[in-house]
Amino acid sequence: MMTRYLSKPENTMPASDRQSEVTLAVRGLSAGFVTDEGRFKAVDDVSFDIFRGESVGLVGESGCGKSVTALSILRLIPSPPGFIEAERISYNGINLMDLSPAKLRSIRGRDISMIFQEPQSALSPLHRIGRQMVETLRLHQNISREAARQTAESWLQRVGIPDPAARMNAYPYQLSGGMQQRVMIAMSLMLSPGLIIADEPTTALDVTTQAQVFELIKEMKQQDTAMLLITHDMGVVWEMCDRVMIMYASRIIESGARIDIFHRPRHPYTIGLLNAIPRLTKNKTRLTDIPGQVPSPLEYPKGCHFIKRCAHAGKRCENEKPPLYDCGKGQRAACFLMGPGTGDLKTEP
Ligand SMILES: Nc1ncnc2c1ncn2[C@@H]1O[C@H](COP(=O)(O)OP(=O)(O)O)[C@@H](O)[C@H]1O
Ligand SMILES: [Mg+2]
Repeated sequence: MMTRYLSKPENTMPASDRQSEVTLAVRGLSAGFVTDEGRFKAVDDVSFDIFRGESVGLVGESGCGKSVTALSILRLIPSPPGFIEAERISYNGINLMDLSPAKLRSIRGRDISMIFQEPQSALSPLHRIGRQMVETLRLHQNISREAARQTAESWLQRVGIPDPAARMNAYPYQLSGGMQQRVMIAMSLMLSPGLIIADEPTTALDVTTQAQVFELIKEMKQQDTAMLLITHDMGVVWEMCDRVMIMYASRIIESGARIDIFHRPRHPYTIGLLNAIPRLTKNKTRLTDIPGQVPSPLEYPKGCHFIKRCAHAGKRCENEKPPLYDCGKGQRAACFLMGPGTGDLKTEP
């Protein structure tokens, strides 16, 4: 009988408890670049939370600002030409915006680890795999070289690298792309980070290896580890995430629990993305693309950024930025269709 009171579902948890469960809180994040063509925001006033142990997907077409969002969290945007502004980016209550570059570096890897599309960006081509893993471990943990070597080897084993003792002596270029990605995953997970940021971690891999790598991330991710998973693939979100944020042209335009986003998408862009998932109909793959293209950040419209591709757009969308309206059950969508009055918007496409 007691167990009934031990596990509290999220929606009945008091607000004060939930606050302490927030791993990452981002408030009012904007980031962009100053280029020859002008200054632009690639990320415009983005706010979100990731709770402990939760996997959150950040989805959208190429160029929408997903990578810039991810890189901004650890201030990895080179400035100049880049700039980052935020009211707050806090990890377990510590505002990362206030930390020195040295403090931030010590958080990176140990508390927040990143998995990139290109393993080359995380692995040094000059050093053997084993040495890189041992040094990373010893940088963050007070352990002997031999203990670190054993830990590294056992991680290579866990991520499915055959003959790990021999692989410890390999240079990255001696491994296939899939194997390099496994090494990077081992390196990301071996310090038990509180947050993993994975930016299109499998895009460079073939379909079979992709599935294996996702399976691996799922298996290896500890219960308390939160994850921000960036992808342009709604299918991956369905497999991997508890909650979803949809990004379009620098803004988060919809967010909610995975099940609600898939069953009851609200924003016309989200509906378009879901229709674009390849479906097998009569032995043929059908793909309904969203017509048009993501605008360049130098030419974002004044109001809703999706206006040029939207079948519902009215005058109001031209002039005003739609706020994120509450659609119930924690789902939110930035579309005037969700507002109190739809005005001159076309409610039927
Ligand atoms: N280093 C940079 N210099 C100038 N513009 C950049 C740079 N990095 C990204 N951008 C621009 O910022 C926008 C968002 O890019 P990005 O976050 O990489 O998109 P996504 O990851 O969603 O595909 C794009 O228009 C891109 O061209
Ligand atoms: Mg990207």
